[in-house]
Order: sequence, then structure tokens, then C-alpha cells
Amino acid sequence: MKIETSQFSKIDTKHCQDDMQAYWMPYTPNRYFRKNPKVMASAKGVYYTDDHGRKLFDGASGLWTSPLGHGDPRIIEAIQKQYQTMDYVPAFQMASKETFRLANRITQYAPADLGKVFFVNSGSEAVDTALKMAIAYHRARGESSRTRMIGRERAYHGGCVGGISVGGIPTNRKMFSPMMMPGVDHLPHTLNLSQMAFSRGQPTWGAHLADDLERLVALHDASNIAAVILEPVQGSTGVIVPPVGYLEKIREICTKHGILLIFDEVITGFGRLAANFGADRFGVKPDMITFAKAITNGVIPMGGIIAHNDIYETITGSGGQEQLIEFFHGFTYSGHPLATAAAHACLDIFEDDDILARTKVLEQVLGDAVHSLKGMPGILDIRNCGVSAAFDLEPIAGKPGLRGMQVLESCIEHGILVRITGDTIAMGPPFVATPEEVQSLVETFARVIQKSFN
Ligand SMILES: Cc1ncc(COP(=O)(O)O)c(C=O)c1O
Repeated sequence: MKIETSQFSKIDTKHCQDDMQAYWMPYTPNRYFRKNPKVMASAKGVYYTDDHGRKLFDGASGLWTSPLGHGDPRIIEAIQKQYQTMDYVPAFQMASKETFRLANRITQYAPADLGKVFFVNSGSEAVDTALKMAIAYHRARGESSRTRMIGRERAYHGGCVGGISVGGIPTNRKMFSPMMMPGVDHLPHTLNLSQMAFSRGQPTWGAHLADDLERLVALHDASNIAAVILEPVQGSTGVIVPPVGYLEKIREICTKHGILLIFDEVITGFGRLAANFGADRFGVKPDMITFAKAITNGVIPMGGIIAHNDIYETITGSGGQEQLIEFFHGFTYSGHPLATAAAHACLDIFEDDDILARTKVLEQVLGDAVHSLKGMPGILDIRNCGVSAAFDLEPIAGKPGLRGMQVLESCIEHGILVRITGDTIAMGPPFVATPEEVQSLVETFARVIQKSFN
């Protein structure tokens, strides 16, 4: 089906300005939003409908959350059934069989030996939990000096204290420096437009940037370093794809020095890179994987950590007497039955509908379509990997982020939703979109760009 791209006229949004008085929005310019609200009323399949009845193609799968589209009756039915059977079970000292089954299932998607799943409720919680696991693991091995963490510039690892500390987005950090974790360093990010602009898939330049990890090891000594955390593809700052050989080198250096490697796959997990995880896509095996978003198709919050068996065995093995808790961490809603039911339904769909095969087709379609926009005015870079792509746009002088916002608004007027971070536009269409819809998403975007830079 082709996206309906009839031009929408600017509409009056005054009516909802009174309604939103009490609402303080996350990661949103609140003052701007109040003047330019974007209010969604319903979602079905790969389309949202806003409060003016405009049908909008979901070009970002919600917030990378909803690759299976919206309102799939199989997910709804699974949640309803679970709700009627058991709506909640205490997460501590108790569990449900369905949660055991889900953990087992998830490990089958993960690389070998990543055999233990710890459930949380969001990507941010997953990241902070993984960092705690890394410290607990080294301590349990008798290496309690290994507490330092290494993240990367431009990384997004959520909004909690651990995540902003290892994260590398300046605006997310600058207000909160007094509460950052101590002992964190950042590797350089790998985006260098003078070397790799308009690369399709993995850039060939940049593997040497991993050598900076050796510099940090030399500076601090490996005996003080617990873990390196990376998104295999940096999502939030605009689909920054690792250079060929980069992740392999990071893995090699971590192994050499006994440093744990954590892949934050909150966006990349469960199909976004046309593979189960970035770990498979790039053939690099981390010691832990964090996941969230697509595991429940965004329907009910859930996140988690898939840890290497050795991490689990080491931490639990040093727990003292058997009746004592080994890892003092968890959340009231860890492994919530409704989220568990949603996750099972999503994995059923993933398997029954051979979603991975679809992602492989869409990767090709999206890649061809986005790179065909090279040369258009205002486009500084185009990147893609799996079913995700991003465009860096020429900013408006002195007004960072305004171009991105204007393009988002123009996209909405043309019937498509995209994701913006400053003046970078990302696309991550649902895996259940047709190739024609994905093609049409990019064609529509091209019209928006033409208008924006005319
Ligand atoms: C790589 C990564 N880690 C962590 C998070 C945080 O997830 P959440 O917003 O569910 O806390 C995100 C969110 O986009 C993410 O992209």
C-alpha cells in the first residue's frame, strides 16, 4: 500500500493547549510543544491517526519500539488471557512458569553461553543493572578494584545515573555532573564525515579508533576496569554504524585484559539490524546484552539483560549460605506477567511470520531508497544498517535543532512520522510494512527535503 501523501493544511492546535497544562514531557522542548502540539489518538497496523484524523505512516516504529505494527490481535489476546489468569506475581522470592519459559526462549535468540536473563522494565534499568552486574562479577572473583566503566561519545544508554554516566550525549550530561558515577571514560565515537559520508552499511574507515581502548587500559591499568559498554549501532544519535573491524578489535582488547563487554541492544535487539541481535549481525560476542523495546513491541514495558553463564555462576557462587540473596538488585515489576505474555506473543509472531526474512528484504529496499537521496540539497550524510537509516541535515545557522523540528512537522503534514535528534532524522519503519510503504516513506521524505531546502 502506498502512503497517502495528500498535503495537509496547517491545522489549528489551540484546543489542546489548555488540556496539557499539567503535563511535563520527557526529552521534549516543552515550551515549543505547547505551541506546536503533536497529539496521537489511535494506532493500527503501521499507521497512527492523530487527533485531527490525519493518518500517519509510522516511519520510526514508535520509538523503535513497535516493529510488529500496532494492535496485533495476537498480542492483545495474549495480554487479556494473562490478565484473567494472573495479573501480578511478586518479583522477589516468587515467579511464574511463563517467566521461566520466556527467559529460556530469549537465550535461544542470543549467542551461545549467554544463558541467563534478568528482567527489568526499561532500557535504562537494563543498562544500570548490567553495570551493577559487571561490578558484582569482578568483586565476586576477588577483583574488587575493577570498577571503572568505559562508554563512548554519542552513546545513549538511557536516563538513569549509570546510563548518563557511560552515555556520551553532552546535553544529557551537563546538568547532572554532580551525580555522575565516578571513574568513567569515553572512547571516541566513530562518525567522521570527511572519511565516511554516505557509506552504505558499515564504513570501511575507522577500525583504528578501537585502539583508544588500549590507551585507556594503559592509563588506568586493566585491574581497575570493569566493563566497556557500546551500542553496536548507535541509535539515538542517528544510526552510527561501526566501521568494519571496529567491534572485533574492541572484543579482542576486552578479552586480552579481562574487561567485560556489554552490548546495549535496546534498539538493535530483535530484528532491527536484520538479525536477532547486533552480536549476530557483526559476529562479535559480548558478555552481556541489554534489551527492551521490541521484546514486547512496546505494548507493555519490559527490558532485560542476557548475561554470560559465567557471570551468573560467579555472582551466585559467591553468595554465601544458600538462603541468602546473592545480587541485591531488582524491581517490583521485573518479569511482570502481562509484559511476559506480550513478549511471548511477540516472539510467536517473530517466528510464525518469519519476521527476520522480512527485515532482510526491507533492509535492501530502505538502503536503496535512502541512498538514492544523495546529492539533494541540505543532506550532509546518509547512513543505514538493517531496517534503520539516518540523514544529517544542514542546520539553520545559530538555531540548532530547529531544522530537524521543522522537517518533522513538514513530514507530519505529508503523512509520515520520523524520529529527530537535533538536525538528524532517523527512520526505522516497522518490519511488517510493505516494501512499497517503505519506498513511499522515503519518497515522501524527499519531497519534504525539497521543500525545506528550496
Ligand atoms: C541503546 C539504548 N539504551 C537505553 C535506552 C533507554 O531505554 P528506555 O527509554 O526504555 O529507558 C535507549 C532508549 O532509546 C537506547 O536506545
